[in-house]
Amino acid sequence: MSTETLLYDQLKRPLRDLRISVTDRCNFRCRYCMPEETFGPDYEFLPKTSLLQFEEITRLARLFVEMGVEKIRLTGGEPLLRRDLDVLIGMLSQIKGLEDIALTTNASLLKKSALKLKQAGLTRVNVSLDAIHDETFGKMNGRGTKIKPVLEGIQAAADAGLQVKINMVVQKGINDHEIVPMASYFRNSGHIVRFIEYMDVGNSNGWKFDHVMNKKDIIDQIAETFPLKSVDAAYFGEVASRYQYEDGSGEIGVISSVSDSFCSSCTRARLSADGALYTCLFASKGTSLRNPLRNGATDEELRTMLTNLWNGRHDRYSDERTEESVLNRDKIEMSFIGG
Ligand code: GTP
Ligand code: 5AD
Ligand code: SF4
Ligand code: SF4
Repeated sequence: MSTETLLYDQLKRPLRDLRISVTDRCNFRCRYCMPEETFGPDYEFLPKTSLLQFEEITRLARLFVEMGVEKIRLTGGEPLLRRDLDVLIGMLSQIKGLEDIALTTNASLLKKSALKLKQAGLTRVNVSLDAIHDETFGKMNGRGTKIKPVLEGIQAAADAGLQVKINMVVQKGINDHEIVPMASYFRNSGHIVRFIEYMDVGNSNGWKFDHVMNKKDIIDQIAETFPLKSVDAAYFGEVASRYQYEDGSGEIGVISSVSDSFCSSCTRARLSADGALYTCLFASKGTSLRNPLRNGATDEELRTMLTNLWNGRHDRYSDERTEESVLNRDKIEMSFIGG
């Protein structure tokens, strides 16, 4: 870990992580993220010219690392839809001081690319999988896709030597019956399953407090079948609360942005596919870095911009969430900002 922290925000939080969305497209239509009614055939995704090119992403990433970032996560949409992603990972892996390059993916296309990504410098993958049975999974991904390609993707990643975590977004009445089967399936696999409280990201998923299954209920349900003990965070700012099975068969996590928020240790900045910087997942507005980049800004000018943005940051949406903010705040969509 770097001992030097160059940037702090208004709430004394350092800048440590950068999440980069490489595309706003996805081959799934999970109802909680890209519901078909909004993201249908006529939806206008970003044109290619708007996307940051690999050279542009790498230049910004290098500046972020100079300013304290140690971990970069590539997201989307579905990041594996971006052609030649391994080339970008290869470029990022050359950045001195960057310790971790991770990917969040639905893994439907991972089987054929896992080894290439690992060889390019990827360290780990987080795979979104909301059910272990085809029927529920097919409904949730909005495309009827079965779990087989996802499980094959997970296996290919593990075979390639990538560390794998599984993300399950839990929606009450939709897939909460899959919590224990998911825990059971991945026990003894070495892969940590993280159960995620459904969040009010964006404005299109029709989120309501009633749809959230909270951390306590998730843990109680699992512990009834598989006794659990709580363990300390692996690193400062980890979003998941960790638990281990008492019989030593592995670990799970719960990401509780709704019932037990973690804004006070939030060290994450987010870069959208079109090059805007967001200082919170629930932000309404980003600041374009692409415009100055394409208008010839020097590294020094970009550094000043980043410093001012992070120094001015005071976001803590999940700490302050109210019925009013859920309904009336104009929030960026998750598929655009990358989760
Ligand atoms: P690790 O580095 O493996 O801990 O990954 P991660 O959990 O930071 O990233 P991942 O993409 O796997 O995200 C898992 C869940 O946590 C998703 O639902 C994210 O939207 C959520 N999440 C990640 N960062 C934040 C955050 O800063 N705020 C909130 N509210 N949720 C977050
Ligand atoms: N609430 C919680 N998690 C979500 N994700 C996408 N939309 C939501 C939401 N509304 C998850 C995805 C992926 C990660 C980046 O965010 O399933 O695992
Ligand atoms: Fe695609 Fe992931 Fe959103 Fe599902 S949650 S629609 S897989 S980006
Ligand atoms: Fe960070 Fe915003 Fe999430 Fe809070 S709500 S943890 S400030 S991204």
